[in-house]
Amino acid sequence: MSILVTGGAGYIGSHTLIELINQGYKNIISVDNYSNSDESTYARVKEITGVSVKKYAIDLTDKKSCTRLFEEEKIESIIHFAAFKSVPESVENPLAYYHNNLGSLVNILDCCREYSCNQLIFSSSCSVYGNSKELPVTEETVLSKPESPYAQTKFFGEQILMDAVKAYSNLRVIILRYFNPVGAHKTGLNGEPASETPNNLVPYITQTAAGLKEQLQIFGGNYNTKDGTCIRDYIHVSDIADAHILALSYLSKMDKQIDILNLGTGNGVSVLEVVKSFEKVNNLSLNYAIVDRRDGDVEAVYANNSKAIKLLGWYPKYGLEEMMKSAWKWQLHLAENN
Ligand code: UFG
Repeated sequence: MSILVTGGAGYIGSHTLIELINQGYKNIISVDNYSNSDESTYARVKEITGVSVKKYAIDLTDKKSCTRLFEEEKIESIIHFAAFKSVPESVENPLAYYHNNLGSLVNILDCCREYSCNQLIFSSSCSVYGNSKELPVTEETVLSKPESPYAQTKFFGEQILMDAVKAYSNLRVIILRYFNPVGAHKTGLNGEPASETPNNLVPYITQTAAGLKEQLQIFGGNYNTKDGTCIRDYIHVSDIADAHILALSYLSKMDKQIDILNLGTGNGVSVLEVVKSFEKVNNLSLNYAIVDRRDGDVEAVYANNSKAIKLLGWYPKYGLEEMMKSAWKWQLHLAENN
């Protein structure tokens, strides 16, 4: 019986492959269509772990390919990362987000039903909380309006799963609501796949520091926050990966069909604080400017993470400075190898 990791060549997916291997899991299968990643990720996973993961190049929105995969492999559980993840891109191209993020989920669930695969971990996002009045947010916090099509796809994904467990009594699902995953593997050998147009703050910071981008733009300096910039809960990608390994064990003994867990550190950090921390720990000075707000951004969100701590026995190990150090180490590694 195998564990299927979708989006295994991606940022969180590849760090989770590493932790699964480190924890002694065998029979791991990864699928990816490399839309936002690269096949070379698997070589990095092998460099760190010594293990070659079995891989498929598949677009999960294609039902035939998805079915073929389930036909060929006996899949017992799925960690479903594969999805688009950029807020601004989703505002520009909402249909691509609905098609990709929801089409793949529906196909996977269909195959789960047909091939009796009953355990699924779903990558959701703190973006489902919208502009919440209650901070930190708990899993019980009433969800406010999603601010972007990306956030909508995560909200709808959760709804689809809630309906699916009602209809299919064997299905067990854990929804993990990630806060903002950043940083890189402690070896500096694996991190967020390089992209010419980084989707997120930290890759933009590291590329600016490396001279690949001229200037970091900070979107909005007049939010009602401590320094006027948005607040997020940045969490180390390896801490997020660890939580998946613990969630796999929790899934097999869970006494309900579906559960939701926040994966954050509990610390609300502003964009300017991230920049300052990066500058300090890496002894660098960043060229940045505060510009207009970005469409689709929420003002502030950070987690109450006590449910994940209690149910998974998980605790985030890394602080902001380690996140910023490892992100820079990864950027330097990329520069040396290009
Ligand atoms: N930001 C900038 N400049 C940039 C990029 C981002 O100021 O060049 C700001 C944003 O406006 C926001 C903060 O940095 O205030 C974080 O933005 P990101 O784009 O890094 O992250 P988001 O909060 O928009 O969303 C991210 C991912 C999602 C993930 C979500 C929480 O895009 O995939 O965090 O899990 F789901």
